[in-house]
Amino acid sequence: MKKIELAVIPGDGIGTEVVQEGLKVLDVIAELHGGLTFETTEFPWGCEYYLQHGKMMPDNGLDTLKNFDQIFLGAVGFPSVPDHISLWGLLIPIRRTFQQYVNLRPVKLLRGMDSPLKGYQAGAIDFIVVRENSEGEYSSIGGRIHHDTPHETAIQVNYFSRYGIDRTIRYAFELAKNSPRKKLTSATKSNGITFTMPFWDEEFKRIQADYPEVETEIFHIDALAAYFVTRPESFDVVVASNLFADILTDIGGAIMGSIGIAPAANINPEGKYPSMFEPVHGSAPDIAGKGIANPIGQIWTAKMMLDHLGEHDLGEKLLTVIEETLLEGIKTPDLGGKATTTEVGDAICDKLRRLG
Ligand code: NAD
Ligand code: IPM
Ligand code: MN
Repeated sequence: MKKIELAVIPGDGIGTEVVQEGLKVLDVIAELHGGLTFETTEFPWGCEYYLQHGKMMPDNGLDTLKNFDQIFLGAVGFPSVPDHISLWGLLIPIRRTFQQYVNLRPVKLLRGMDSPLKGYQAGAIDFIVVRENSEGEYSSIGGRIHHDTPHETAIQVNYFSRYGIDRTIRYAFELAKNSPRKKLTSATKSNGITFTMPFWDEEFKRIQADYPEVETEIFHIDALAAYFVTRPESFDVVVASNLFADILTDIGGAIMGSIGIAPAANINPEGKYPSMFEPVHGSAPDIAGKGIANPIGQIWTAKMMLDHLGEHDLGEKLLTVIEETLLEGIKTPDLGGKATTTEVGDAICDKLRRLG
């Protein structure tokens, strides 16, 4: 019997709505498997918690999470609390403390989905973005001076270390080496950003020497953003810095048909700490509380957790059932359908049970 101690942080807005569907699906997965159980503990941390306690999680929050096998998170952030406080008070400390330095974000056109790109059929877009998840443009180094004067100035330092760059690029090369297409694309902005980005390019080329079987290409991030739209079929594995890959993967969500279905896995590759599974999207305040959020990003995220746990067959089964649900037209409004969040979750659970 494999028992997974799962910390659940529904978070804010639609996070709380889609996480419930994800947990329902995990219950069914456990029923079907027989040898796998998820022991879940829910933590009500987020903006509501902040408004009551002045912090996004308790002081011992990270110590508490450390004892869990994995973390299942919805979304963090709501207009009631400034984003830089909410995200740096919960999501980012988890990613960093638990050295989840790789953020995996698949971009795949599923059966039953329509891409806004003309002429793309299911499977024609199928690649994965490896996002550096621990440093780069996301730093707390900086400050503001000359407050409330015409000379007010803000400085934010980008921080790229050889240690940080190499472990992520190497992870991406390993993924590419083990993929059928064996291709890795890297994106930087070395024409405009003259210290950090050439450093990334040099490290990429140095590591490339260890992977002669992998075909590589290096683009400027602006060009790559356009290629995501004009030739997404050409990508296999894409690696980029924290901010660039953040932006690329919202484009990824869009070309898959909706940000609401895009999944992500924050991985601690050494397995020393829990990894964290969350969708790419945020708390969507514009639709929160309406019961119409698409739960597929969260449910696909559960599939990534199954993969991480070595349960690939179950993961594939879950993705197939997601596709069959889409093929039947059981879709939330972001996909042009009329189904509610719960109806999509229920349909996926029913189909899983029927498949056995
Ligand atoms: P968002 O992803 O929440 O929303 C962008 C757009 O996509 C909105 O129109 C929204 O309605 C739509 N959308 C997102 N998820 C959807 C779903 N599952 N189904 C249907 N439609 C969906 O991005 P935002 O508006 O920039 O951010 C809102 C808040 O979420 C902010 O506080 C932001 O900082 C936070 N955020 C958190 C995370 C996270 O916790 N990982 C990720 C992104 C944004
Ligand atoms: C994401 C989000 C976060 C990020 C924000 C909310 C800090 O956009 O997970 O994609 O940029 O990492
Ligand atoms: Mn993002």
